[in-house]
Amino acid sequence: MKIGVLVSGGGSNLQAIMDAVAVGALDVEIACVGSDNPDAKGLERAEKAGIPTFVTDYSAFFARWKEGAALPEDFSLETVASRQSLMKGSDPDILKAFLEKRALAEAALLAALAPYKIDLLVLAGFMRVLTPYFIDALNTDSNRPRIMNIHPALLPAFPGTDGYGDTFRYGCKVGGCTVHFVDYGEDSGPIIGQSCFPIESSDDLDAVKKKGLAEEWRLFPDCIGLYAEDRLNVVERQGTRVVEIL
Ligand code: GRF
Repeated sequence: MKIGVLVSGGGSNLQAIMDAVAVGALDVEIACVGSDNPDAKGLERAEKAGIPTFVTDYSAFFARWKEGAALPEDFSLETVASRQSLMKGSDPDILKAFLEKRALAEAALLAALAPYKIDLLVLAGFMRVLTPYFIDALNTDSNRPRIMNIHPALLPAFPGTDGYGDTFRYGCKVGGCTVHFVDYGEDSGPIIGQSCFPIESSDDLDAVKKKGLAEEWRLFPDCIGLYAEDRLNVVERQGTRVVEIL
């Protein structure tokens, strides 16, 4: 099975996946690593391992949108806006700008991924929202979603960009991480796996992050492995789409 990985920063999760592949614990081919950030350390890690990399510069596409660049031919604002649940209720002009700008960047992202013919896209600290325009292009089979994300909290608690920070500030006694399929909402897709750790009163935020990352490095390769073995089934249970592990 071929996977593509997207990173925005350090790429320690990418490293954990590469290490699992290297020791034979995970049977996949990492076909490419992409980033929205040319300086992402994750890109360096991939290059060192001889994995092809690419950068999709979101800010450049946002600037082109401002200049009136033509939108992708297969983009329909109406369709994408009707599916997007993330910004429900927001001003239509703001939503339009949000979706159109991203469609330009996402079309480039799709084009960069296309040659690698990946079976699964893995978001390993990719800090951009993916809109239904992108998600639908990859998810052609509703029973087998093709985008997997890792989130630094025990979802559905603390979605958003600072899971460990939010967990710590709330005073939780347990923290954790979640691997899930990506859907149209914010960190809301069907959960594949979760792992937790205790938070002691002597722990500061750094300690919480450290414990959390250690869990992520184990959990993420495991979940990708289940996908590669075709053991993840998305089923409808009492009105909710959940993952059944076979
Ligand atoms: C991780 O904490 C992950 O859960 C979150 O972003 C962070 C990425 O870390 N989505 P790294 O780039 O893999 O080191």
